[in-house]
Amino acid sequence: MVMAMKIGFRDLWVLVCREGFYWFFVKWLGEKVCLVLKDRTADNVHLAFVGEAKAVVRLGLFAEKAEEEGLPQIAHLFRAMAAAEKVHAHRHFKQLEGSVKDTQSNLELAFQRETCVAGVEYVRMLREAEEDGEADAALVFSQARDVEEGHAKLYKKALDHLIAQRRTEYYVCRVCGYVADGKVPENCPICGAPKAKFQKVNSNEN
Ligand code: FE2
Ligand code: FE2
Ligand code: FE2
Repeated sequence: MVMAMKIGFRDLWVLVCREGFYWFFVKWLGEKVCLVLKDRTADNVHLAFVGEAKAVVRLGLFAEKAEEEGLPQIAHLFRAMAAAEKVHAHRHFKQLEGSVKDTQSNLELAFQRETCVAGVEYVRMLREAEEDGEADAALVFSQARDVEEGHAKLYKKALDHLIAQRRTEYYVCRVCGYVADGKVPENCPICGAPKAKFQKVNSNEN
């Protein structure tokens, strides 16, 4: 015996609503999953950048140490690896959204970063190091704060178009990171390091 199925208007409406809700839910869930995956990849790109950037610094210092120990070939190997990790760091950084814009925007961002680091971040770190009685860390934080102020001033100069038209040389203190503009001081105004500790910046190096 065939059972006749009677589907009334109300049943049909419920079915459509249910199915409609189902597809809406599937679509919503799909979008959420995509967003989570996107976030995860973005986090991984950031993590990869930080890891590679740290490796560049670490390997550079390892190379210096190898040189001190009279092992120039090992130093050379560390430098080669540092150059390679730098390629990775650059590639990941470029993938971070909006990381490299036009030069005016980049100068503005660089100025803001230096101002924030000098006026807020290092100030807090210095205070906390002092509270913790960590004198070595406090000294480095305080010099870094002063140096970043100098960096901010140089960016400000560039933003004010004061250095766009003239060629200048920059010299970096290899002890504290102070940047001298034009000529090397007898002693670093921040950390007191002698002239010999300054390194001329190669304008082609990245
Ligand atoms: Fe790498
Ligand atoms: Fe800086
Ligand atoms: Fe210095």
